[in-house]
Amino acid sequence: MTAHTARSPAKINLTLRVCGTRPDGFHELESLVALLSLHDLVRVTPRNDGVITLACDDPTIPTDESNLALRAARALADAAGVETGVDIALAKRIPAGAGLGGGSSNAATTLTLLNDVWRCGLDRAALAEIGADLGSDVPLFLHGPVCVMRGRGEQLEPVERPLDAWVVLILPELHCSTPAVYRAWDALPEHPPRPKLDRILAGLDTPREVMYALFNDLERAAFAVNPELAELAARASEAIGRPIRLTGSGAALFTLCDTAPSAAGLALELGQTLQTRCDVVSVLPA
Ligand code: C5P
Repeated sequence: MTAHTARSPAKINLTLRVCGTRPDGFHELESLVALLSLHDLVRVTPRNDGVITLACDDPTIPTDESNLALRAARALADAAGVETGVDIALAKRIPAGAGLGGGSSNAATTLTLLNDVWRCGLDRAALAEIGADLGSDVPLFLHGPVCVMRGRGEQLEPVERPLDAWVVLILPELHCSTPAVYRAWDALPEHPPRPKLDRILAGLDTPREVMYALFNDLERAAFAVNPELAELAARASEAIGRPIRLTGSGAALFTLCDTAPSAAGLALELGQTLQTRCDVVSVLPA
């Protein structure tokens, strides 16, 4: 049967405000999110026997029922009454446990691909509802490339203003446990006031400048959980004399640039100073 392949992009949280805890144990968020050119590939090949399989080119990624792409396929098959089956293959380029949303993105791409290939006919809202049950970050990958995420992550508002930005990603070989970082946020004695989102949105035309206004409420929590990461972020910021932010609950860090050459220059500088993988990527165009 014919294989169908699609890109599965990474995300960064340009801002992330934790507004409080919810009765369901999750946290209420407001986050400005951008999808990136850094991507995994998802390939689906339908099969007739109703069996769903998953393979991955990265042996460190589990391919059992804990994998969100596999769970996405099963959830869609259940929701749409599909009995066809599929072989799913992932080519991983997005580091795991980095706050770049790789697993959630793979789930969203799997839902979109299989909705077409299996001819389920579900609209984006229905896919997002299935996605939200799989993980808080799945729905945002069905939107974008720049949007505001609220609630647990299921309320998404597109940002019409384009963000023409280059991103230097610092990708340390450190992993952050998302639940541990949220628990550390709960234990923080106080939470600083944050600028209104309007101010940030108005500054998106100049990515290098807006970088000074970006924030992530999970940053102090992630640094408390992982002091090595705190030290790396401080060294990175010092090396380039500019702000560095954490994405999601970490461990990837980033800074925004206006042009590809300036991003390349910073990535070289940071790679040498930190002895850590640094990628230059762009925000996906609208
Ligand atoms: O939904 P997801 O599986 O990505 O969430 C992982 C963990 O992150 C949750 O178990 C919870 O501890 C935390 N979380 C949260 N509030 C959110 C999203 C995630 O507390 N809005």
